[in-house]
Amino acid sequence: MTRILGIETSCDETSAAVLSGSGDDVVQDSLVILSQDIHRVFGGVVPEIASRAHLTSIVPVVERAIQEAGASLDDIDAIAVTNTPGLVGALLVGVSYGKALAFSRNIPLLGIHHMEGHLFAAALEHRDAVPPFTALLISGGHTLLLDVEAWGRYRLLGATRDDAAGEAFDKVAKLLGLPYPGGRFVEQLARTGDPKRFHFGRPMLRKNAQPDGADYYAFSFSGLKTAVLNAVRGSQDIEKDKPDIARAFQDSLIETLVEKTRRAADAFSRQRVVLGGGVACNRTLAEAMRARLERDGVTVFTPTPRLATDNAAMIARAAFFRFERGERASLDLNAYASRPIPGLVAA
Ligand code: KG4
Ligand code: ZN
Repeated sequence: MTRILGIETSCDETSAAVLSGSGDDVVQDSLVILSQDIHRVFGGVVPEIASRAHLTSIVPVVERAIQEAGASLDDIDAIAVTNTPGLVGALLVGVSYGKALAFSRNIPLLGIHHMEGHLFAAALEHRDAVPPFTALLISGGHTLLLDVEAWGRYRLLGATRDDAAGEAFDKVAKLLGLPYPGGRFVEQLARTGDPKRFHFGRPMLRKNAQPDGADYYAFSFSGLKTAVLNAVRGSQDIEKDKPDIARAFQDSLIETLVEKTRRAADAFSRQRVVLGGGVACNRTLAEAMRARLERDGVTVFTPTPRLATDNAAMIARAAFFRFERGERASLDLNAYASRPIPGLVAA
């Protein structure tokens, strides 16, 4: 049995987790997430504030995770830390701390790609959320549609040409005067909205699109955001129209995500779809995804909100795979704002 300590500081959550097990038989012994609420005041993450907040909380967060696991540092076999993508200053706090801990204990260190973490999150709760599957990773910074034939072998089918799905939710929330991060508030508001009052186009969703066409799997949400802006500007009574605009926006975005995912599962004959990233908290999306894909005999797996949003358990979970393959980082491990997910195979 291996026990791995995971550390995540890529954005505005300071998180640590301890996981134990082997292969796909991994148990979460603890997970601590400290969310930096201060950014709400500014309506977005302020990188410098994020780095400083990580600095003050990293030690107690890691200590608490080890304590909640009923373990001590002596029981930890390896340390896994997110080193890309994210805010460099924020990432560096976790990377430096992880390195120091690994060096002082003389145990292996692994650098984990944040999006590979999101890919592994559902596997923490669902034994069957393992390859082969179609993955849709939808977070504040990324929108990735992948075919996962095995752990570590990822075929990138589609990504966003402009805004990420979560970013679109957050920008629309701002236009509607909702707090940051706004995804869940837009979802709440949309529940009471009339689906027929507004209609926004479905981005990149031509019905006659062909699998070899450039737009078949790609996403674009900035046009949708502009449509929302125009609807807000043209409204005579914004308080009354708000829920209906939120509903039309969400319906359009969800239909696009569901249809592109269906295309990918169909093209590769996958029986499973795995969602990950903060937008996977959206219950309306999960229900629409299930309703559409279960008709084709495909099972849809979503992580619970605590594991869908940024957390260190998913980082440690991905690290089990990399650790068992013999991968190790050296003490010159660095942080990078952006790097492709490892293990990409030719599309
Ligand atoms: O994965 P995540 O925690 O952080 C990044 O790696 O970016 O994702 C955060 C994103 C935010 O854009 C937030 O608005 C969105 O997830 N989000 C939601 C919901 N809950 C969180 N979007 C839509 N509906 C939700 N219920
Ligand atoms: Zn994330």
